[in-house]
Order: sequence, then structure tokens, then C-alpha cells
Amino acid sequence: MTIVPVEVLDVARTARRITVLTGAGMSAESGVPTFRDAQSGLWSRFDPAQLATEDAFRRDPALVFGWYVWRLGRVREAGPNAGHLSLAQWARSADVRIVTQNVDDLHERAGSEVLAHLHGSLAAFRCLDCGRPFDGDLPEPDAVGRAAPPRCPCGGLVRPGVVWFGEPLPQKAFADGVLACRDTELLLVVGTSGIVYPAAGLPDLARSMGVPVVEINPEPTELSPSCDVTWRTTAATGLPTLVAAL
Ligand code: APR
Ligand code: ZN
Repeated sequence: MTIVPVEVLDVARTARRITVLTGAGMSAESGVPTFRDAQSGLWSRFDPAQLATEDAFRRDPALVFGWYVWRLGRVREAGPNAGHLSLAQWARSADVRIVTQNVDDLHERAGSEVLAHLHGSLAAFRCLDCGRPFDGDLPEPDAVGRAAPPRCPCGGLVRPGVVWFGEPLPQKAFADGVLACRDTELLLVVGTSGIVYPAAGLPDLARSMGVPVVEINPEPTELSPSCDVTWRTTAATGLPTLVAAL
């Protein structure tokens, strides 16, 4: 039986503005693999330097593009979980702003409006050279997971719309995320290991503004010591329990 920590409930009941910063753990119970889980994490089976950088893409476009098309397929097979759905429900009666590191669309498919996708979106393909959005058909990965990226009318290669390591975050998304973490009465940090900056710096920023920070994660993380409350539960258990108790 999951009990909402009383200090979380008290703040959540009175907060007029709530910001939720989500990471891959938010989608784990939808069957979308996280990155750093020891067993099932994506980075335990693939090397990020081989897949999540522009250099890697330029070196082997079909390998990298195929991997992202595979990931998009996993997301499309998945569905929003009870955690996503409870946030959408909460937003119908309170000012709940979602700032996510996730590149999936599960918050949106649960009915939430996402204020900021800090690391871009998996389905937002665009031209590597001119930036033109691409919404044509995607090639199916072949038997070894490779898929040659389509070309933009300008001749450039089409790339995934996610933020690769070494790339800046989308300016407006990050600015919106900073504002949402400063100007709020409660920050819930759900399902992130808190090791990829600058997103991982947002909870400290909130704390420095006197905002109560609550971590919802079954495991301790780099962020745990700077959270007011660490609630060792999962997104799809903790969030619905909290929303039901409001
Ligand atoms: N509910 C809540 N948290 C969970 C769950 C769950 N069901 N399952 C796992 N977690 C937690 C893990 O304990 C871990 O702390 O989710 C976190 C996932 O951490 P990561 O895999 O590192 O994902 P994330 O923090 O989102 O990674 C940040 O790194 O690779 C880049 O751009 C990528 O946005 C990503 C960024
Ligand atoms: Zn182009």
C-alpha cells in the first residue's frame, strides 16, 4: 500500500503552481527503456558516443538513424502509464507545468500539455544542414537495425530532432524550464538520475528560490541530497496515489 509522505501531501494540496521535471523513469512503466538502468538501460547496451552525437551521425548515418527509428517504434508501441495520466488529470484542477527531458510524446498522449521538451522530440525530424522540418515517410530499419536517412530537398541528411551530447538545449525550452522551476510552489522531480546538465541543475535552482523539491524515484540519485523529500516510489504508483489523495 503506497502512502503519500504527509509533507508532500500538505504542499501539493496548497500549491497554486506545481512544476514536474520528468526523466526516462517517467516512461519506464510504459515499457520505454531508460538510459542508465544497470540491467535494461539503453546506455548499458549501446554506447552513447556511438549513437547520440552529431559526429556519430555523420560517421555512420544509417546506424544512428536506424537506432532512432527503432526507438520511435518502441515509443509508438507504448502507451502513457498511470503516472502520465494522473498528471494530466491533476492539470485539470491545478496549474501543473511539465518540463521533460524525455523525447517521447507519452505526456501529450496522456492529455498533458508539455511546457518544455528540454532534449527535443524523437518525432521531430529535421534537415541536418538547413534545419527544414521533415515529415515524410521514415525508412524501416533493416535486419541489423540500419536505416539510411532520407534527404532534404536541399540535399542535406535528415536527422532526429533530439538534443545530442555536446549540443545546446533548445533556447526557448530551457528558458521556459528555468522559469517553471523558479516560479513554482512545488517541484516534483520524477524518474531522472540527475546527471545530465543543464537539466540536472534545475532542482538546485528551484531549491535556491525556496521551492520545496520532492524526488519521486525508486532509487537514490545524484539529486537526492538536494531534495527536501525523497519518495522511494515509482512514477506510475506514486503520482496516481498523490493525485487521488489531493
Ligand atoms: N519510476 C520512477 N523512476 C524510475 C522508474 C520508475 N518506474 N524506473 C526507473 N526510474 C529512475 C531510475 O532510478 C533513474 O534514476 O529513472 C531514472 C532514469 O535515469 P536515466 O536512465 O539516466 O534517464 P534520465 O535521467 O532521463 O537521463 C537524462 O540523459 O541520455 C540522456 O538525453 C538523455 O534525457 C536523457 C538524459
Ligand atoms: Zn535541408
